[in-house]
Amino acid sequence: MDSPSAPPKVNGLIPPLIYGGDYNPDQWTEDVWREDVRLMQEAGVNLVNLAIFSWSRIQPSEREWSFEWLDRVMDLLHEGGIRVDLATATASPPPWLAHAHPEMLPVLADGVRLWPGARQHYCPSSPVYRHAAHRLAETMAEHYAGHPALTMWHVGNEYGCHVPACYCDVSAQAFREWLKRRHGTIAELNRAWGTDFWSQRYSSWGEILPPRRTPTWPNPSQQLDFMRFSSDELLECYELEREALQRHTPEIPITTNFMSFFKPLDYWRWAEREEVVSNDSYPDPSDPQSGMRAAMAGDLMRSLGRGKPWILMEQTTSRVNWREVNVAKTPGQMRLWSYQAMARGADGIMFFQWRQSPAGAEKFHGAMVSHGPVDTSPVWHEVKALGREIRGLDRLAGSRVKAHVAIVFDWESWWALELPSKPSGRLRLLDQVESYYAAMFDTNVTADFARPVDDLRAYRLVVAPNLYLVTDQAAANLRDYVQDGGHLAMSFFSGIVDAEEHILLGGYPAPLADLLGVRVIDWFPLPADTRLAVRFEDGSPAEGELWSELIEPAGAEVLATFAAGSLAARPAVTRNHFGKGTATYLGTRLDRGTMSRLLRLVCGAAGVNPVIEAPPGVEAVSRGEFTFLLNHGDSAANVELGPEKGGTIQVGARDVAIVGLEIPEQTSA
Ligand code: GLA
Repeated sequence: MDSPSAPPKVNGLIPPLIYGGDYNPDQWTEDVWREDVRLMQEAGVNLVNLAIFSWSRIQPSEREWSFEWLDRVMDLLHEGGIRVDLATATASPPPWLAHAHPEMLPVLADGVRLWPGARQHYCPSSPVYRHAAHRLAETMAEHYAGHPALTMWHVGNEYGCHVPACYCDVSAQAFREWLKRRHGTIAELNRAWGTDFWSQRYSSWGEILPPRRTPTWPNPSQQLDFMRFSSDELLECYELEREALQRHTPEIPITTNFMSFFKPLDYWRWAEREEVVSNDSYPDPSDPQSGMRAAMAGDLMRSLGRGKPWILMEQTTSRVNWREVNVAKTPGQMRLWSYQAMARGADGIMFFQWRQSPAGAEKFHGAMVSHGPVDTSPVWHEVKALGREIRGLDRLAGSRVKAHVAIVFDWESWWALELPSKPSGRLRLLDQVESYYAAMFDTNVTADFARPVDDLRAYRLVVAPNLYLVTDQAAANLRDYVQDGGHLAMSFFSGIVDAEEHILLGGYPAPLADLLGVRVIDWFPLPADTRLAVRFEDGSPAEGELWSELIEPAGAEVLATFAAGSLAARPAVTRNHFGKGTATYLGTRLDRGTMSRLLRLVCGAAGVNPVIEAPPGVEAVSRGEFTFLLNHGDSAANVELGPEKGGTIQVGARDVAIVGLEIPEQTSA
């Protein structure tokens, strides 16, 4: 029986745990396809993402369709027992379309047009592109409806990856229509954009442009609206295709692959329109923070799907091709990071791509099957071993991760915070989120992400690393949450502007001051490499960086003060009792060790416990009845499980153990 939390299944046809990758058979001759299916079976592959970049093959000209080759691939895969996540193939328009309609090509803010010859060369607002993409999606759906291999739809590919926004005349017109819907009248737009500043008042809609390259900063409210508009335009492209697919194959789930914390698209709005959330994850193996960041992305994906299992749609087996130096994963790292995704809620582990390309811009990117003979490829042996293991882990499928902490994450606030001309250009939202996340990751406290307007009552602790833009609704939600007994931890430069990027007047942080029990009189951002001494009330020293500010307590108690400079003896960290709950406020960015200690205290007060007390470098996450122990370190670690769970368990270097579930024994490949 399907568990209620499992991803939607088509007549039970989606395998419980998915294993596979992007499959581009059009880059190979037919004899290779047969070999592919044989090798896929050998590796335990049960799903492939097919035809993502096949538009020019499927539709060689406006009136010509060529499905025979793809039919043969679909049939071969089906005969081999491999299911298909079929792409709508709309991510890379064919040359003929761009040549017939050059106005569909995207234009940058400085007027430079992007030409065909790579991929994603379309203006998201272009009626030409939209019509052609809808027609292709519809034709694909008509053609493959009922095909026994068809299991899921993969719409487009990484929307916005290369072209998140377009500034052409077609986009300008679409922007005006979008603005009319948002603001109603030109007078209201003038108010919302604060156009009395620098003589920017508009007399008619026709005068409004996208924020093209200007002598200096374009109007920030205009920029913010343009970011909203650009996310919405791409979402409309997705929805147009989705409409066609749903009409022809209502039973087939639909996804489009996300790119972790991708700034241009408000994924909360996108995820609501998908049956399954899927993500592409390419952590840099040479960066020691990559394990933590990949965990954070996994938690975001789970949260975007409101707890449902998600799919790791793309990762590399070894290395990518797009960094300055493409460092390969060390042996075991691909397996460890795959388990990490499963620990954080993934029911599918997939790769870009199945077979390494012989030509084109990505021929040096890793793949499941590399250029050389498979038998001599260590990667192939890792791929096969993981496939074999995953086949034995079906009990994991559909189980849920339970978090008691929520991290407030809001795309609009992110966009607004990072617009130019702020007190500090060094203040970046993801750095802020990471400073909280890393502290919790280090102590194995699991967190979800949530919107500031979400119902937060299920969480014992809510952290808001930065909520620069706050709506009345969000401020009320946070207050109600604390009032009713919730615990909140929030950092500086929150509650500063409204949805139009206007200052919330009345003393910073106006809508949150009573909740936090402080007034912020002024900000003193710190230059790079400057640290400011901080001292906690118990005398323990700490360091602040990035930011400092003059805080006037208005009801809050002081937990730490600045210990040097002009803010010496002034509050750096405060705590306010508000209603039945508490609100802790941080006026600087504390070093990682102090953050861990502080969050331990805050978690303790909120009744949030670590999954397990594990040695440094061991990540622990519970999913359903299972507890994953992932050792990111270079040496074996002993983890104390406690008497109930059976004493101590040793986890090897870069190895994983799942308490409650045996990982199938590795036989030599
Ligand atoms: C993205 C794309 C793939 C491929 C990989 C390479 O994830 O979706 O088509 O280009 O990057 O890393």
